[in-house]
Amino acid sequence: MALKCAVELKIPDIINSHGAPMLLSELVEALSINKERAHAVRRLMRILVHSGFFVKQCISTTGDDEDEEEREGYLLAPVSCLLLNEEPVSMRPFLLAMLDPTLMDPWQHMSKWFQNDDVNPFHTAHGRTLWDLAGQDSKLNQFFNAAMASDARLVTSVILRDCGHAFKGLNSIVDVGGGTGTVAKAIAKAFPNVSCTSFDLPHVVNGLEGIKNLNYVCGNMFEAIPKADAVLLKWILHDWNDEECIKILKRCKEAISSNEYGGKVIIIEMVLKNNEGDEKSLETQLYFDMLMMVETTGRERSEKDWANLFLDVGFSGYKITPISGLRCMIEVYP
Ligand SMILES: C[S@@+](CC[C@H](N)C(=O)[O-])C[C@H]1O[C@@H](n2cnc3c(N)ncnc32)[C@H](O)[C@@H]1O
Repeated sequence: MALKCAVELKIPDIINSHGAPMLLSELVEALSINKERAHAVRRLMRILVHSGFFVKQCISTTGDDEDEEEREGYLLAPVSCLLLNEEPVSMRPFLLAMLDPTLMDPWQHMSKWFQNDDVNPFHTAHGRTLWDLAGQDSKLNQFFNAAMASDARLVTSVILRDCGHAFKGLNSIVDVGGGTGTVAKAIAKAFPNVSCTSFDLPHVVNGLEGIKNLNYVCGNMFEAIPKADAVLLKWILHDWNDEECIKILKRCKEAISSNEYGGKVIIIEMVLKNNEGDEKSLETQLYFDMLMMVETTGRERSEKDWANLFLDVGFSGYKITPISGLRCMIEVYP
């Protein structure tokens, strides 16, 4: 919540545009706040320096009396570039969405949910699923889609740099649950000969206009998925339980079956414990598993869990390529 507060007050942007270590007094002056809160800014910055979002650097200045005076100024830690408003791969929308009361309230209902029959704590808190509420609440729809788009920009930049081979030779691809089309747009730009479709629920894609080799289609992935050489599922299956995933994967298999080479399904997800010895990555994966338990019916899966799903749907094999500390590309073959 301290980080959310700092981001809402635009502290990373203000320190970044200062261009040099920023004194507490300069920061307080630049912030649109009640100036009597200066002591609280110091405390807010102290915890954020401690947790590695900012660093403090000594500035040597010569005072009027020519005594050398050591003062400290704030700088961004490298990771905080991801919090800047203008940064192309900013995670600011993701951070603000995950800490919005609509997605935070369900956490207060976890123990209640353990004792009732609701599908998840989100349902206990709001009386319906995240997807249903997003269809009714335009503010939630807007910030959730923006959050996903920010993650998609970051992850797609890595995928296209390191895993571009997965898209070579394809004539068409459909991004199922593709949100507002960030991933499909990036693939369409990188591969102008590939026809790209971003497929999602009506409240997500209605009003979005395709361009050149990118188009939007609305529908329900449990019913039918547009046919293509490849189906992309980024951060879809972890939203659903095994039974639901099997239904989605069956529709995917039908969608790619018209391809004489057999097509493939490309999944971008976490593979639990894929970085042996990297305790920080594992901890984050386990937090995401809790997030899935609270907001959706899904979970994070180990390689064994993934393999069992593919086997149940009748896929012949799969290949896992790690794309970052946390996530992998899984190519699944019919
Ligand atoms: C976690 S978001 C992932 C968005 C995008 N793939 C990304 O990673 O940036 C899940 C997406 O699935 C979509 N979705 C949920 N239920 C769906 C359904 N029955 N049919 C199609 N899309 C659905 C949501 O609207 C949302 O855009």
